[in-house]
Amino acid sequence: MKNSAAVERSRCAPGHILLCIDKQEGFRMIDSPLIPYNFSDLEPVVSRDTLVFHFLRHQRICYDRLQGLIRGTDLAELALDDLIRRTERNPAEHGVFRLAAEVWNHNLYWRSMRPRGGGGAHGPVAALIRRRFGSFDRFASEFRETAGAHFGSGWVWLVWRRDALQLVATGNAGTPLVRGDVALLALDLWEHAYYLDFQNRRAAYVNSFLEELVDWDCANRILAGLSGAGARAARAATLPPPQVSGRGA
Ligand SMILES: [Fe+2]
Repeated sequence: MKNSAAVERSRCAPGHILLCIDKQEGFRMIDSPLIPYNFSDLEPVVSRDTLVFHFLRHQRICYDRLQGLIRGTDLAELALDDLIRRTERNPAEHGVFRLAAEVWNHNLYWRSMRPRGGGGAHGPVAALIRRRFGSFDRFASEFRETAGAHFGSGWVWLVWRRDALQLVATGNAGTPLVRGDVALLALDLWEHAYYLDFQNRRAAYVNSFLEELVDWDCANRILAGLSGAGARAARAATLPPPQVSGRGA
């Protein structure tokens, strides 16, 4: 049993060793959750307590329960995104779906934030935002409205759908992965994400995400990884509009 709980130290950046989680035997297809910064790095916006509870008492528990449900079954052979797509439409497997989706959703949520983040977008996603929403301010306004209009637990997503950006909300463990969208950014709207720091002021939490946390490099990295028609559409959408010649007008 020497290797049954081997710590994945090789995947951890220096200084992040406390965030390493055991990868247990018989669960090879789905990586252990990992936060790409230290628990206190998002302070004062997101407290260390919030991040510790959120990561260890929610995502980690989802991961452990998922492991318990799929170990020894053919589901254990699937990558996390394939597991989510396969179980979403089968009511008998919805327990697995919910846990797997929560692990996947949180993986993107952690990467959607960074210390001293926030502010206007940059890079290709900035051009796509201007094309789809007209301006960053309009995008931010629609982002706040989407979050404010969502009732109960869930998520707000910036996604790449066919050939344009879209803002979508999903309830509970819902994830855009099962709709064929490419998720670029995730914001957790469950109360456990903000209640210790903002109490019931969800709008203030959403504002802080936009102004002090969001990591646009996350969206740009995912856009850069698109392939095929999605990549061609994204590149075309970031090109400046053609100049209209004044000749002959
Ligand atoms: Fe959460």
